[in-house]
Order: sequence, then structure tokens, then C-alpha cells
Amino acid sequence: MSRKRYLVTGGAGFVGSHVVAALLERNADVVVLDNLSIGHRAAVLPGAELVVGDLADPSAVDALVGAGPWDAVFHFAALSLVGESVRLPFKYLLENGVNGIRLIDACVRHAVPRFVLSSTANLFGTPDRMPIDEEVRIDPASPYGESKFMIERALHWANEIHGLRSACLRYFNAAGADPQGRLGEDHNPETHLIPLAIDAVLGRRPALAIFGSDYATPDGTCIRDYVHVNDLADAHIRVLDQLDRRSVRYNVGTGQGYSVRDITEAVGRIAGRPVPYVMGQPRMGDAAILIAGAEALRADTGWIPQFTDLDEVVATAYRWREAHPGGYGDK
Ligand code: UD1
Repeated sequence: MSRKRYLVTGGAGFVGSHVVAALLERNADVVVLDNLSIGHRAAVLPGAELVVGDLADPSAVDALVGAGPWDAVFHFAALSLVGESVRLPFKYLLENGVNGIRLIDACVRHAVPRFVLSSTANLFGTPDRMPIDEEVRIDPASPYGESKFMIERALHWANEIHGLRSACLRYFNAAGADPQGRLGEDHNPETHLIPLAIDAVLGRRPALAIFGSDYATPDGTCIRDYVHVNDLADAHIRVLDQLDRRSVRYNVGTGQGYSVRDITEAVGRIAGRPVPYVMGQPRMGDAAILIAGAEALRADTGWIPQFTDLDEVVATAYRWREAHPGGYGDK
């Protein structure tokens, strides 16, 4: 079999870097396009080529996509702060939505056969049933979710009219880190629960604020579906085979929900001491419960999450963060 060649936008970011690692493990040639505004040079493992460039630069994107052939383009590069998107909707609609659509246009013009999109469960807003399968009505909760939906719609037409096959993967809560300790989660600012709880227990930040304790859940705190980033990466690889026949869209999660309290307790168990916390106000736009119905992905691709134990997920994140007090150290 000839060696596969992939272009990965945003491959220096959290999920993208773990997918690059998985592609390298499969002996593929990988080129990463990243402007390093959120991503990190050190998150691109040796073996992959990093091109520092911006999706907002159509001629640079066109030149790179034209320098194929590519077996597939993976698209991760995006802004992903839900709260920021509610303040600055057009930043998200333009930088995520429009730049993503331009990338698809370049893929169509240069006859890229397959496209894999990093999408989000934010597409489903406040769903009326749980777990959330692919038939739940789409009603994005934020301009961030809307920007991903814009790209999903463009991919629909790229498939219908030009035959570009695509997979849209709607992640629930990406969590954990490379079990080999090479890669981890390093956002600036950090807004995600698990890294914040870890920093709080390590004494690197003040106490964690738990956003609301009166939700309609057993312990009153929000429930989410935390899927290990290596399991997410595996889903990206598995959908490639589907794309030989058709375009697909899958919700990606474990089907198991954990509350904010479950997470703080797990972090406390791993650290060997409790996470200091204070009760804060609910965060605008947070749904009480978001759990994935990922049966379609399992049935079609044989995907089975390997990280089913919450403590194991948290432990991989903890190990990386403890060993990297300044993250990748470039911001
Ligand atoms: C959402 C988005 C995701 C996006 C992410 C980052 C959905 C379904 N997912 O995930 O696509 O990438 O935001 O912006 O919309 N929490 C606290 N205290 C904190 C931080 C978080 O209590 O300091 C709670 C939140 O209220 C939430 C849970 O922890 O219930 C997880 O929060 P977070 O890690 O920010 O992810 P989501 O908001 O679920």
C-alpha cells in the first residue's frame, strides 16, 4: 500500500495534535497548517511537517491545498471559546465559518477526495432528549456552534455537487492527554474544567469556581460526556474508510455522563488531596446535561472508547499538566 498523505489544519492544537500523533503512528506523511495563535510548535511531533500559515490568507491556503495530492484534509483550526463567541459573534462566523468554507472551496478546486471536520455538540443547543444522537434537532447554542454548522452545510453541498466526501465529528467534551506524555491540553486562557481543577489542586490557581449547583441533576452540578482525546483521534482515523463510500456525520462521546463534582472528586483522587473549590454562579448558556448517543459511530466503524474509567482519563491529563507547569512554554 502506498504511503498516505494528509493535511491537518490546526494540527498544533489540542485535538489536532493528538490526531497527528495517531496518523504518524500509522506511518502517514502529515503536513500541519497552523498559525500558532492557539496551537503550539512543540505540539507538532517530530515526523510531521509544520507550515506556519493562516486560513485567512486564501492564496497561501490555495497553494498548500494545491500541493497535493492529499488522501484527506483534516480541519481543526478554529476559535473555540463559546463565551467569547457570544460577545464577538462575527469574529467566529468569519474566522471559523468563512475561512472554513474557503478551505472547502480550495479542496473542491484541487480535487481533494476526503475531508474530516472537527465539529461540536454545541450544534444541539439545549436538546429536548438525551442521549443526543444524530437525529436531534440542530439549533446551535452559540455563534461558535453556528460557525461549525456553516462549515457542515458547506460540506453538504460540496458532497452533493462536487463529490467531496466528508465526515463531521461532533465532539462532546474532549479530555485527557497523550498517555505517553508527549502532548497535552494548553489553552490560554484556560476555560476547561479538568485542567482548571488540576491547576487548583496543584496550587497553581485559586480555588476552582463550580458554575452552579442548582441544576436538575442528582448533585445539582452540570453533567458532561468526557471523551478521551486518544479515543477521539481513533474516531478520526476510523471514519476515513466510511468516506470511500459516502459522507457521514457522527456524535462522538462515551455515552456516560459525569457531573462537575464527579470530576473534582476524580482529580482529588489522582492528586491525593481534595480540589479546593467555591460555589459560583451558573455560566450563561450551560445546559444541565449533555451526553452523546454515539451508537451510529460504533455500529458503522467499530469504534469503542478505550478510556472508560474516568480516573484514567483524568490521570493522563494530570500527569502532563503536573510535568508541564507552563504548558508548552511558548505563550
Ligand atoms: C463547551 C463546548 C465545546 C467547547 C468548550 C470550550 C458544548 C457542548 N461544548 O464545552 O465545544 O470547546 O465549551 O469553550 O457546548 N465548569 C465549572 N467551572 C469552571 C469551568 C467549567 O464548573 O471553571 C463546568 C461547566 O459549567 C460545564 C463543565 O464544567 O458544566 C465543563 O465545562 P467546559 O470544560 O468549559 O466545557 P463545556 O462548556 O461543556
